[in-house]
Amino acid sequence: MTPHNPYLPDLATVIDIVDETPTIKSYKVIFNDREKMSRFTFEPGQVGQISVFGAGESTFVINSPPTRTEYLQFSVMKAGEVTGAIHQLSPGDQIGLRAPLGNWFPYTQMKGKNILFVGGGIGLAPLRTLILFMLDNRQDYKEITIIYGARTDADLCYKEDLKEWGGRDDITLILTVDANSPGPPIRQGFVPTVLNDVAPKPADTVAVTCGPPIMIKYVLQNLAALGFGAEEVITTLEARMKCGIGLCGRCNIGSHYICKDGPVFSLARLKALDFEI
Ligand SMILES: Cc1cc2nc3c(=O)[nH]c(=O)nc-3n(C[C@H](O)[C@H](O)[C@H](O)COP(=O)(O)OP(=O)(O)OC[C@H]3O[C@@H](n4cnc5c(N)ncnc54)[C@H](O)[C@@H]3O)c2cc1C
Ligand code: FES
Repeated sequence: MTPHNPYLPDLATVIDIVDETPTIKSYKVIFNDREKMSRFTFEPGQVGQISVFGAGESTFVINSPPTRTEYLQFSVMKAGEVTGAIHQLSPGDQIGLRAPLGNWFPYTQMKGKNILFVGGGIGLAPLRTLILFMLDNRQDYKEITIIYGARTDADLCYKEDLKEWGGRDDITLILTVDANSPGPPIRQGFVPTVLNDVAPKPADTVAVTCGPPIMIKYVLQNLAALGFGAEEVITTLEARMKCGIGLCGRCNIGSHYICKDGPVFSLARLKALDFEI
């Protein structure tokens, strides 16, 4: 029998595309092999490597939850060559997909706790997976608070989700933009400042954050000042990756690999690895 080649992607088809913001599109994708699609499982926070033939391969989080299995959703912000090629795709186009890769959010240890999500821009993508997963298992979690911001109103991602979450009485949703707020309920101010204004209580609460590195840096500082312990703060890192399976050495922090040991880390773990955001 030929050994499995971990670099070889499965063929998949884009079945739908949603324009989220001027620079971000979401892609609903299914494996061409129907049996693989029906058997496919993953954990919230895991990623996939999408390849566009002739352009290359890049890493994206699976931002649909494993509790909704009709398709896999990836959201792609246009940054360079591969993401530019993905933005040229149309429904029906074929891509390569290697998934699932990496570790995931420790959602079992988070059961019975209040959950605070703090996101910025495309950083809502991994949080979306966990938020939808928790909403599909709502009885397992206590209060859910989401603080989410982007540069402008137009840059807020997942507007359909935001509308739904804002209308639920079991979620506290706080939206903010850096500039030109259209008015309530959308605040104006940087995410770390809004976090300080909201001042969530750390007792019995786990905070999960993802966004631009500068946002994460100040969010982590502010969470510490609010009294959150390093074990209770979780983030997901976006280092540049190539193989995604711990073989090429592109994404290491010391002897650890973000692609294999991450991308999800507690702040305590990052501190133990001497990693500074
Ligand atoms: C674990 C993980 C999860 C990710 N999830 C998502 C996601 O859900 N949606 C999404 O849009 N992007 C995500 N990314 C980032 C995405 O992989 C990069 O934007 C993409 O690889 C850029 O490829 P490119 O060929 O278009 O850009 P390139 O042509 O290679 O580079 C263009 C520009 O983007 C910068 N860049 C490239 N890679 C990264 C990176 N990893 N982080 C920051 N800047 C980068 C380069 O420095 C350069 O300035 C994730 C990355 C990782 C590691
Ligand atoms: S991307 Fe190759 S070791 Fe992590």
